[in-house]
Amino acid sequence: MPLFNVYPLYDVTPISGKGVYVYDENNTEYLDLYGGHAVISIGHGHPKYVEAITSQVAKLGFYSNAIQNPLQVELADKIEALSGCKDYELFLCSSGAEANENALKLASFKTKKSRVLAFKNGFHGRTSAAVAVTDNKNIIAPINAQQKVTILDLNDIEGVKRELEKGDVCAVILEFIQGVGGLDQATGAFFEQVDVLCKANNTLFIADEVQSGYARSGKFFAFQHYNVTPDIITIAKGMGNGFPIGGILIHPDIEAKYGMLGTTFGGNHLACAAGLSVLNVIEEENLIDNVNEMSAYFVKIAKTIPQIKKIKGRGLMLGLEFDYEVADLRKKLIYEYHIFTGGAANKKLLRILPPLNVKKEHIDQFFEALVNALSK
Ligand SMILES: Cc1ncc(COP(=O)(O)O)c(C=O)c1O
Repeated sequence: MPLFNVYPLYDVTPISGKGVYVYDENNTEYLDLYGGHAVISIGHGHPKYVEAITSQVAKLGFYSNAIQNPLQVELADKIEALSGCKDYELFLCSSGAEANENALKLASFKTKKSRVLAFKNGFHGRTSAAVAVTDNKNIIAPINAQQKVTILDLNDIEGVKRELEKGDVCAVILEFIQGVGGLDQATGAFFEQVDVLCKANNTLFIADEVQSGYARSGKFFAFQHYNVTPDIITIAKGMGNGFPIGGILIHPDIEAKYGMLGTTFGGNHLACAAGLSVLNVIEEENLIDNVNEMSAYFVKIAKTIPQIKKIKGRGLMLGLEFDYEVADLRKKLIYEYHIFTGGAANKKLLRILPPLNVKKEHIDQFFEALVNALSK
């Protein structure tokens, strides 16, 4: 049976990975500065992660949400301790889109309203409401287009005020650092005013931290760079270092009721073991400090390269903007220099999303290759 052909693929076949590197069938080494769309947070095959998953699957890999699962409680406590988000409750699911889908559903349940405000170039996933609030008409099917969504420009605070005052908006959803769109960020004043306006208009503020979360921005969550209190925080990607796990942190003003949300796979034993081991490694290896140090090192070198016109993003969620499209440069980096980087909706942007424990030597390797590639 052929595979449903929805992905344009690079002709590389990684079969193993270690730290910041993956290896193909000929044992060719590739420097992975992309982590499969920001998923690899603590590096490929981290020994503590391998041990945690292996020992858990040998004990009990899965049971559904019909029994007590102390690993979920442990994971919730660990997220609270490391994030400092004291007043939230946790619901576990299995992907970023599912996290956003559940967040939007909760906002609608809570406020009894149904329109959503989202932003230009935002990306929130590919399921029903999550794709409807994503700013990309090409991936919205007619069934998704039935949702009531208004897309505004980032920083258009007058637009946010105007729309919220109409009284029918259940949620504002945004990324504090846009990922797929191309690393744009609104101003701190904008984020803080959105927070205030949401609270004044019985609208829930959803922080989509699916990509920016879990230390990648240089704080545990990217919204923590600002004075805001989201009602719901959505997480996935780096949370499981490749094991599919997502979740939403829910402010206790939103009261849980049986049947409101649910999932078969979410929060299973193996997923929790993966999630816990990622958090343990982030804590034990001081990875937030490493993110900030490596980010400063990366940006310092990037500033010396004249072809780079703009450095966007924060922490280890970075974008290098050129004044031409970078598809050929990305191909060159993969096929000639064996380095994975990412693209974005902004075609002039090279996206850099390394594991949070990347070291200076990997950054040096990247820049040496980039300078060479740019000089040819
Ligand atoms: C900010 C953001 N939200 C949601 C998603 C969707 O996550 P998933 O692909 O796990 O459904 C993504 C994926 O790229 C994302 O970057």
